[in-house]
Amino acid sequence: MSAIYPWIKALHVASVIAWMAGMFYLPRLYVYHCDLTPGSSESERFKVMERRLFKQIINPAMMASWAFGLTMALTPGVLNWRADHWWHVKLAAVLLMAGFHGALSRWRKDFLEDRNRRPARFYRIANEVPTILMLIIVTMVIVRPF
Ligand code: HEM
Repeated sequence: MSAIYPWIKALHVASVIAWMAGMFYLPRLYVYHCDLTPGSSESERFKVMERRLFKQIINPAMMASWAFGLTMALTPGVLNWRADHWWHVKLAAVLLMAGFHGALSRWRKDFLEDRNRRPARFYRIANEVPTILMLIIVTMVIVRPF
């Protein structure tokens, strides 16, 4: 393991923080967006906020998290791909997180085209998904229970 390994890990954690910040905040914007009249200036302002958060923060932060994370995962000696079950669980949770990212992208397009029909309650519940996945991921990488 080279001297730059801890730097890659630091960049991984930093980009993960940015990714998670966006994953927690975007569904919140959708909750508030539900109450706005389509076509109103407020609704249009939310569309701009949603686009910027998604394209300028969430997307690049997710790509950086994957790039640094996979660099570490492929570094010889870091993982035992067969025996580290915590890693399998983390990978599954991270893939679900990426799936949730895809759902956020589809929901954003619904708002963008004024065709969202889901109630605020839906987005309030959806908001808990990244929280639960994040708790699983952090437990796996830090506690490594199995
Ligand atoms: C995007 C795909 C991801 C991949 C491929 C990945 C992979 C990895 C790998 C291989 C390590 C190094 C473990 C070690 O050196 O022992 C690591 C560390 C870490 N990951 Fe990820 N990860 C990803 C996403 C995430 C996410 C979404 C979170 C948080 C929600 C996260 C939180 C962490 C933390 C906190 C550490 C540092 C743990 C320590 O101190 O050893 N990762 N990750």
